[in-house]
Amino acid sequence: MIPPRIVDLFAGAGGWEEGLRALDYTAVGIELDSLACATARAAGHERLEADIATLDPAGFAPVSGLIGSPPCQAYSIAGKKLGRVDEAEVVACAKELAAGEDNRAERLAACGDERSLLTVEPLRWALVLRPRWIALEQVPAVLGLWELFAELLGPHGYRCDTGILSAERYGVPQVRKRAFLVASLDGEVKLPQPTHRSFHPRRHSVPAAEVDLPEWVSMAEALGWGEEPATLRSNHTSSGRIPGGAPRSLDRPSFTLIGSSYTWRIEKGVREEEVRPRPGWARRRPATTVLGEPRIFGPGSWPRNGHPAHKVRRETVRVTVEQASVLQGFRHDHPWQGPRTARFRQIGNAVCPPVARAVLAEAMRPSVERGRG
Ligand SMILES: C[S@@+](CC[C@H](N)C(=O)[O-])C[C@H]1O[C@@H](n2cnc3c(N)ncnc32)[C@H](O)[C@@H]1O
Repeated sequence: MIPPRIVDLFAGAGGWEEGLRALDYTAVGIELDSLACATARAAGHERLEADIATLDPAGFAPVSGLIGSPPCQAYSIAGKKLGRVDEAEVVACAKELAAGEDNRAERLAACGDERSLLTVEPLRWALVLRPRWIALEQVPAVLGLWELFAELLGPHGYRCDTGILSAERYGVPQVRKRAFLVASLDGEVKLPQPTHRSFHPRRHSVPAAEVDLPEWVSMAEALGWGEEPATLRSNHTSSGRIPGGAPRSLDRPSFTLIGSSYTWRIEKGVREEEVRPRPGWARRRPATTVLGEPRIFGPGSWPRNGHPAHKVRRETVRVTVEQASVLQGFRHDHPWQGPRTARFRQIGNAVCPPVARAVLAEAMRPSVERGRG
């Protein structure tokens, strides 16, 4: 029997493949960015550095599984949403590919953003290679396109499921919503059931369907920031009077005890920001979406959403590459390569490995059950 071969399109640094590895599978990843390739290789994943749009998928046959996360800039809120403007071209191109016509060059010429048409590549590869199973991911704005792919793949023998999954529901310490498609030639396929409760900022009771699930993981918990913070506040220390009082976290040695130490106060959970930049919200919820930069914005204070700058500053937490790695569901010592900006970009681009693992297990389940995995 030919061993299963899995191809990961737009493979980046390897978020999907970290999930695959947890299931004891490997893939060949195709990726244009040499630094993302370097990270993937350092982590033990196979990489072909190439432009996917120029490759002939037939050269990769036979393939048992196809994975794909095309670039999302043209569709994401961070970008200019040109993908939406180009949507008619993308939809027409997908329908033509499903009907056996490849008009990508003409459709590309009519697009405002050259990246928009990359979203049809997974469909093109799937139609040529006929993998037993498929798993795709993109920003939520692409869900409609995944639904169209599901319709177009149906007549080619695939059963599909599509939907939005949020990373905190799979134990990732981050609220990150993404649109997924799973498809199989071997039977009915479903997106995975959540393993953790959902996070909603204004909900105080647990929905009945989630009572038996563990709570989501908070950002502070994931980063080892301990329990509710407490601060020692002193107006007067051995070095003299301190206007406004001096804060010191209780997990550090105390100020030197002096005669007036009886005036010192312990403040619970409110002022830790003054000692270390760790705002209280990080203890009360998963991180907001990790965006490929060192800032984790406070809830509802994403600057590009038009919120006042002072609020953004107060609530924003700066994190290290290692901390961003953990928030994205990777190990803290994942071997990210390249300059700091490139490492943050690769992290922000990646599929969260725990979500990848859950989605892939379901995508390949019918094939594995039939011994075709
Ligand atoms: C959303 S990211 C995918 C991240 C990846 N799935 C992961 O989990 O790490 C999209 C990736 O597509 C790559 N890319 C963009 N255009 C490409 C092309 N024409 N051929 C190959 N890769 C490309 C980008 O460099 C980026 O790493």
